Amino acid sequence: PIPVILDVDTGVDDALALLVAARHPGLDLLGVSCVAGNVSLDRVVENTLRVLAAAGRTDVPVAAGARRPLIEAARAATVHGTDGLGGVALDPSPRQVEPDHAVEFLRRTILASPEPVTLVALAPQTNIALLLRTHPEVVDRIERLVFMGGSASVGNATAVAEFNVWHDPEAAAIVLDSGVPAYMYGLDVFNAVAVAQDHAARLASGDDPLGRVVGALLGNRVSSAHGGEPEYSGLIGDAGAVCSIVDPDALGTRLLPVHVELAGYARGQTLVDLRTRPGEDLVHGLSVEWTPVEVALTVDAPRLVRVFL
Ligand code: BDR
Ligand code: CA
Repeated sequence: PIPVILDVDTGVDDALALLVAARHPGLDLLGVSCVAGNVSLDRVVENTLRVLAAAGRTDVPVAAGARRPLIEAARAATVHGTDGLGGVALDPSPRQVEPDHAVEFLRRTILASPEPVTLVALAPQTNIALLLRTHPEVVDRIERLVFMGGSASVGNATAVAEFNVWHDPEAAAIVLDSGVPAYMYGLDVFNAVAVAQDHAARLASGDDPLGRVVGALLGNRVSSAHGGEPEYSGLIGDAGAVCSIVDPDALGTRLLPVHVELAGYARGQTLVDLRTRPGEDLVHGLSVEWTPVEVALTVDAPRLVRVFL
């Protein structure tokens, strides 16, 4: 199995991602680090412990990290409800979080792994940026960073910025600049991978306790953009990034120059140079730093959903 560590802000779809990482035979979940994002850090930790308990994986260590982005104040999103799990009630977990801060936890877990670790960032990248700046010796022990974040097209936090990158753009810029090979599972594919409503409903009312949790999480309604009734989305969200590790051929990727914009309205946008021949820009006196990133642009959604299910 592929050794992975998840960095999460649980979160309905982080919960789905944790369940895949905890239960898929192709993955060895070494640990989970938590960061403020969808909800406050304390809530993220509590939700993460509960989800792992529901998956029967109380052996997986969980560490708490950053309470807020590097520069800006904390600002929790509301799309996952006030509890972050869309009101899906899970039993409390009997166990405690690790005594170490997530940055120290990540350092020691990565260095202790005999094989290089795949780091899976499903949240604002504050913990990862702090790790890479504080302990650059881990860079060579990270196989690659698979991150849910960014977009080569549409945004969600703003018209052009995706939530995880927008929440802590400086962190994302530091991480891209770190030398760790990066794979971007952005909104271009994230928005396309969903479980059909009747299938989610069957899971929610079935006999398997874990299936019921998955069905309820998928059935969580999101507010429609312009008011009105909340809508079923069925999106597997962050879980798709985990599934992409198991079945990389389900996605079409290109190695493309990426830059995190830090200023103005476009703050938090990932600029992706989609030109077939990126070259010198016809703009005098303006230049940006580009990092080559493997960007997922297309996905065989039914195939990735099968991996998830
Ligand atoms: C990302 O933001 C969060 O709400 C989700 O958990 C996902 O990681 C999508 O933009
Ligand atoms: Ca997330």
